[in-house]
Amino acid sequence: VLIAGNWKMYKGPEETVSFCAALAARLADVEGVDVAVCPPFTSLAEAVRLLDGTNVAVYAQNAHWEREGAFTGEVSPTMVAEVGADGAVIGHSERRQHFCETDETVAKRIRCVLDSDLRVIACLGETEEEREQELTEAVLSRQADAVIGAVDQDAAERLTIAYEPVWAIGTGKNATPKQAQDAHAFLRGLLVDRYDRATAGAVRLVYGGSVKPENAAELLSQDDVDGALVGGASLELESFAAICETAAGIRS
Ligand code: 13P
Repeated sequence: VLIAGNWKMYKGPEETVSFCAALAARLADVEGVDVAVCPPFTSLAEAVRLLDGTNVAVYAQNAHWEREGAFTGEVSPTMVAEVGADGAVIGHSERRQHFCETDETVAKRIRCVLDSDLRVIACLGETEEEREQELTEAVLSRQADAVIGAVDQDAAERLTIAYEPVWAIGTGKNATPKQAQDAHAFLRGLLVDRYDRATAGAVRLVYGGSVKPENAAELLSQDDVDGALVGGASLELESFAAICETAAGIRS
């Protein structure tokens, strides 16, 4: 089980130091769950420094598809690796919505991240309109094809897919456990078509969208829900730790 906290554009280096120190201490005895934080770029080095030797991994929130070049404002996977981070989140819906990220750029970024020996959390999910028009599976299938098309069998163990329905992000309105399980089972089927069974089973499918301590247990106990990508509730130590403890109590 993976519980990852996506900090979005919150927590500069100073706050990162105090938060990570407290998080490491708080989770020292929590076993059977992989935990990760995803700080903004300028806080990555501090997060890596504070969490070194702990059971908490560090992911960047994006990475470019080239190792270097004339790409003002971008950060490459090589740079993310050099700072000591474990991986990168790619294709978050906020990047797709506000920064013109497409299935094609998502696939390119994923390839470069994996080529840099990093892990990737690839995000996808339908909008409210798409769900209402019964386009959920068509959208997930299109987005997932781009993601898994970019990941060879031998790199798939470093792939996590985050199902994040756009209507559930930051709205307080999480997907029901059944909606999450249905989407994850659909995605699992796509993985089975692409990889051998063991690999398809090993790719982690995590759910994101208004995950809180109060709904974590029912979401995480679904068969194909292998963890959570937590936004708002990952910013407070107590709520994030509570979700991690819930996950540890459910499965190892
Ligand atoms: P919230 O948990 O704030 O809904 O955000 C989810 C998310 O976007 C995680 O990547």
